Amino acid sequence: MTGLKMKNGKVKRFSVKIGLAVCAPAVLICGCEKQQSIAENKVHVGVTYYNQSDTFLNELLECFEEDLKDYQKSGIETTVTIRDAAGAQRTQNDQVEELIDAGCDVLCVNLVDRADPSEIIDLARDHDVPIVFFNREPVAEDLLQWDKLYYVGADADQSGVFQGELASDLIKNDGTTDKNGDGKIQYVVLEGEAGHQDAIIRTENAVETMKNNGVQLEKLSYQIANWNRAQAQNRMQQLIAQYGDRIELVLANNDDMALGAVDAYEKSGYAKEEYPAFFGIDGTDVGLQAVVEGSFSGTVYNDKEGQAEAMAELAVALVTHDGLQNMEFERGKYIYLPYEKITSGNVKDFLDETETGS
Ligand code: GAL
Ligand code: CA
Repeated sequence: MTGLKMKNGKVKRFSVKIGLAVCAPAVLICGCEKQQSIAENKVHVGVTYYNQSDTFLNELLECFEEDLKDYQKSGIETTVTIRDAAGAQRTQNDQVEELIDAGCDVLCVNLVDRADPSEIIDLARDHDVPIVFFNREPVAEDLLQWDKLYYVGADADQSGVFQGELASDLIKNDGTTDKNGDGKIQYVVLEGEAGHQDAIIRTENAVETMKNNGVQLEKLSYQIANWNRAQAQNRMQQLIAQYGDRIELVLANNDDMALGAVDAYEKSGYAKEEYPAFFGIDGTDVGLQAVVEGSFSGTVYNDKEGQAEAMAELAVALVTHDGLQNMEFERGKYIYLPYEKITSGNVKDFLDETETGS
């Protein structure tokens, strides 16, 4: 990764590197196929994402907009247009067409259906508009369809392993997690969307890691709640009705669903001491707050700042033709940001200065 930048005492992985070339006056290149990028210091980014009700993505895109604004200081005029696909791939395909017609120089696409990017890729290639896919990883073969396709995200395996390690640590250090004292941990899982790379992989790795750490597990049930807090509350209410006080651990594929599970317990009439342990993934603002308040035993940081910064750096570089050589890719096209474990011990490092008032 390129350079270091400090935020909240954390080492960031990306830095903005802008060469002199992009600050030079715009040059008109004869025979240039692409009309809209005559000025290399103007970057219009078109974004479409699968659903505007997604907490993590909203926070990521907020960071992304800030990062793009920062390029103004370096003489690069950036504008961004963001569209919500509202869960429909057809809508998203239309949005891509509209964004290209509106003159976007580069697209950032969070696919609705990660297995169905062909129409979008064809549109982009026909107009020579590069695409940075993010967060919902297309199948590898699809990314090979054209050389101006990239992906920015995080390594799903790692998030599951980290969640499993956090849960193992708690179980080993706090005898009260095994509420009925049978030597086994009775658990339920709240899963994200079926077919999403982050859902099944997170669950498998979390459970596998706990087993490898010698934790005896008994799976009671799992429910799909599509990353969504309200759905998770509803599913958790069903699980509580079915299993009552047998549930000792709730593993959720993201923070919003872990929060929905806590919501269900708050409505259940159980006393706080009787609640199971809850683990999420993401470290969203509300997720971090839940760690601070002790309603989550832990979560895993999905580095939205790092991902947003990588997306901005890549999007700008693809248009200005400057800086791409300074970026590090896996298999020539992929950027994965690492996750981090969060407990009450280090949660302060992840809170914004504004929130902590420091
Ligand atoms: C995951 C994230 C979820 C949700 C999902 C959407 O990486 O943990 O909270 O945002 O992406 O694709
Ligand atoms: Ca038990």
